[in-house]
Amino acid sequence: MNKKGFIFDLDGVIVDTAKYHYLAWRKLAESIGVSFTEKENEQLKGVSRIKSLEKILEWGNKTISEDDFMKLMAIKNDDYLTYINKMNKEEILPDVNRVLEYLIQNEQGIALGSASKNARTILKKVNLISDFNAIVDGNDVEKGKPNPEVFLKAAKALGIAQEDCIVFEDSVAGVQAANAANMVSIGIGEQEILYEADYVFKNFTEMENSFLIELIKK
Ligand code: BG6
Ligand code: MG
Repeated sequence: MNKKGFIFDLDGVIVDTAKYHYLAWRKLAESIGVSFTEKENEQLKGVSRIKSLEKILEWGNKTISEDDFMKLMAIKNDDYLTYINKMNKEEILPDVNRVLEYLIQNEQGIALGSASKNARTILKKVNLISDFNAIVDGNDVEKGKPNPEVFLKAAKALGIAQEDCIVFEDSVAGVQAANAANMVSIGIGEQEILYEADYVFKNFTEMENSFLIELIKK
């Protein structure tokens, strides 16, 4: 059997934490008088915490001191963590377990490639941490998505050539990062948003094991 590297984004792919990021950013943005809707939120998906706050300030035409910047980031993260602390394995998105189990059965490399600094906490919360052969997250990279660094590091940690890796992503920035890494990009979400991906599925339920086996055999 061929061995490929399957690299999963976390937020919005494995768990529906994208909604918690949205709620926490919206609360923070509104607290400083910046309007924030789903449209702005889409542009923050896959983007690091620092870059996200920079963008919100830019949209609101705000300049603040470095001190206040750090404070706002902490407020957002504390708020976000109140949601995360209540998580359990019921918040794993549909059919993620089936896909992971199938890949494990077929002895494939499995990695996490996430921008989040909370990735390990979340994987532990939902009891998935032991499914991953490698974890690369926001603590391990200097350049955020769409830069391919996170996925290149994940491939390296798996010991699998980047051309033999497949990335699952719900964000535009993440799909672009996978493409820049010369990996197969699979968008999880809407075709109109993720059209730069090699394949797009609404969710994992739409993705059959026969598709996965084709990727492995390629
Ligand atoms: C990404 C999310 O996975 O992680 C972004 O899509 C988030 O919305 C980023 O800002 C950083 O996450 P965290 O948990 O380190 O604030
Ligand atoms: Mg994501």
